[in-house]
Amino acid sequence: MTRILVTGAAGFIGYHLCRSLVEDGVEVCGIDIVNDYYDPQLKWDRVEQLKQYDNFHFEKADLYNKGHLEKIFNTYEPQKVVNLAAQAGVRYSVTHPHVYMDSNLVGFLNILELCRHRKVEGLIYASSSSVYGSNKKVPFSVEDRVDNPISLYAASKKANEMMAHCYSHLYGLNTTGLRFFTVYGPWGRPDMALFIFTRKILAGEPIQVFNHGKMKRDFTYVADIVQGIRGAIDNNYPCEIFNLGNHRSEQLMDFVHLIEGYLDRKAEIEFLPMQPGDVPESFADIQHSTEKLGFLPTTNIDQGIKHFLDWYTSYYTGERKPV
Ligand SMILES: NC(=O)c1ccc[n+]([C@@H]2O[C@H](COP(=O)([O-])OP(=O)(O)OC[C@H]3O[C@@H](n4cnc5c(N)ncnc54)[C@H](O)[C@@H]3O)[C@@H](O)[C@H]2O)c1
Repeated sequence: MTRILVTGAAGFIGYHLCRSLVEDGVEVCGIDIVNDYYDPQLKWDRVEQLKQYDNFHFEKADLYNKGHLEKIFNTYEPQKVVNLAAQAGVRYSVTHPHVYMDSNLVGFLNILELCRHRKVEGLIYASSSSVYGSNKKVPFSVEDRVDNPISLYAASKKANEMMAHCYSHLYGLNTTGLRFFTVYGPWGRPDMALFIFTRKILAGEPIQVFNHGKMKRDFTYVADIVQGIRGAIDNNYPCEIFNLGNHRSEQLMDFVHLIEGYLDRKAEIEFLPMQPGDVPESFADIQHSTEKLGFLPTTNIDQGIKHFLDWYTSYYTGERKPV
């Protein structure tokens, strides 16, 4: 049976990936620091769901702690590693730069070193569409230059791609970097637009819309992202980078109107200028990912938002409130 180590397993994407793997009988060791960047209870609830499977094991661990990671690699002897743990978020990197260096750079180096020394067959890791910075040419292609990051978060993800390239070149470690484009869906992140808009609209609070609403995003449903990650795990290329996006750039205001429609409530909107580090548009060219990973997203935002709202309203009932 294949043994896969997934870091960031208590996180949004990590939870969905682990669930898909364990349902297919893969032996998964999930690790996560379960920090309080957002509500840790939501992370523990995801872990509880996963613990229902006998082939899922969980370890609370910090990627920064090399000694602890070594012990985990000794115990589980993973054949492949999927690194999703990171300090996420563009805006938070403006106020909390150091945590990005500790988790995203030193933590990632610890993973690379262990994969190299333990002869792991392949490392798949999360990068981000934010590496495209304020590139004007759309859709964003993996062939485009990406040397103008506009946030420390983006810089840390670009650095990961370069570090992985070195380890593939020097030590023959198979590495695949995946540039995710605005992922959303059930069990999603409370710091992201869909969650925040839903919470505020339901509470009758105004929502903040940046760049006066002139924002476009390639919103990608989490099940499609999982399909792309699984393609990367199976293909295990020597050294690759792929875009995982829905290949549609949606107007943010259309996204807001869909949420309003499903909730049957009108949002009170506060239009604000652009935020530092943010980009006005994202749009993925996925031709390379379709050809080499078989990546074919199938969920549009209309269906995806509905799935999210169904989860949100069933999860936040009674005593449990979004924080
Ligand atoms: N969700 C998106 O739209 C999106 C877009 C682009 C890239 N990404 C990347 O995808 C990955 C997963 O994102 P997500 O949306 O699931 O975020 P998430 O915050 O829900 O999950 C990340 C998890 O990593 C854990 N973590 C953070 N630092 C750690 C450390 N030092 N050691 C161990 N665990 C640590 C956190 O506790 C969290 O549970 C991240 O690398 C993120 O940067 C996400």
